[in-house]
Amino acid sequence: MLRSRIIGTGSYLPERVLTNAEIERMVETSDQWIVERTGIRERRIAAPSEATSDLAAVAGRRALEASGVRASDLDVILVATATPDMLFPATACLVQTRLGATHAFAFDLSAACTGFLYGLSVADQYIRSGAARTVLVIGAEVLSRFIDWTDRTTCILFGDGAGAVVLRGEQGDRGILSTHIHADGSLWDFIHVPGGGSRHPPSEDTLVRRLQFLRMKGSETFKVAVRTLEETALEALKANGLAIADVRWFVPHQANRRIIEAVGARLGLPAERVVMNLERVGNTSAASIPVALDELVRAGRVSPDHTLLFAAFGAGLTWGSAIVRW
Ligand SMILES: CC(C)(COP(=O)(O)OP(=O)(O)OC[C@H]1O[C@@H](n2cnc3c(N)ncnc32)[C@H](O)[C@@H]1OP(=O)(O)O)[C@@H](O)C(=O)NCCC(=O)NCCS
Repeated sequence: MLRSRIIGTGSYLPERVLTNAEIERMVETSDQWIVERTGIRERRIAAPSEATSDLAAVAGRRALEASGVRASDLDVILVATATPDMLFPATACLVQTRLGATHAFAFDLSAACTGFLYGLSVADQYIRSGAARTVLVIGAEVLSRFIDWTDRTTCILFGDGAGAVVLRGEQGDRGILSTHIHADGSLWDFIHVPGGGSRHPPSEDTLVRRLQFLRMKGSETFKVAVRTLEETALEALKANGLAIADVRWFVPHQANRRIIEAVGARLGLPAERVVMNLERVGNTSAASIPVALDELVRAGRVSPDHTLLFAAFGAGLTWGSAIVRW
């Protein structure tokens, strides 16, 4: 059977570390509150000179190096991002020229924190249909530019980063076993950036009303997140005839430690199989799963035939899951 195998991973986190102690000096909050409510201790912030394509290109190059694939052999570059360099052209086109991937077509995909799994799903369809053989999927964000640093309910959560995987079509049992992706647009206002698009194009008025910044209904989002993550993890297992005991690594979207622990407990997953790096990186949206995966792979913790379960949710609302046999 033709499957999409992950043959290389890469990631990039900006150098600048923003700690909870620094945020304590910006808004009325405390390290203790942030750690108890979210599990996050610090996050990375892009340098003023860095945009999303810069982070994405480094992660993409590292994934290519790990895979042994030349940039010129890529058929597709897909960048999942909610924070592109510009409205257009696509950030993926900027990454394409940076990498010298001259034969690849390139486009962005907008599904916020579920973006990487949407990207994996699209890439998997290209590969299994025979339309493409080798695809670079990148999740990359510079969310710090769209955060209201005076809003303590959101500024504590997010960080910048990029993660990437190279997928190649190969015959056999290893690779992406399934992807499931979903959306419920009726809940669009749970997490959104109102300004800067065609609804509220940038103007003095939109700046005064701070419409360029992310807005979130935190506790409502929390509840939907726990429910949808559990549901989509279970549908993924069922579709493959797997039990939770078959999952070696659960790599969830890194939004909040309490969300991840609640989902892990509902699924009956032992804590040591649940991958968490949000303490160091916060919520990096579309980058969160590929960054966590790359760290796991580079730590030598993923072995052939391990079963990995990915699950994410985010603005849209969107959510989804994927199962990979390594
Ligand atoms: C944002 C989040 C951490 C808030 O935690 P919570 O336990 O739901 O807290 P609440 O929103 O109910 O707020 C409780 C109180 O803490 C206060 N509070 C909020 N942020 C605070 C902060 N950074 N420091 C101190 N107090 C804070 C609130 O103002 C509220 O005070 P009040 O009771 O006097 O009104 C949590 O809702 C969350 O993580 N939601 C999911 C968000 C998410 O994952 N978004 C991304 C999706 S991809």
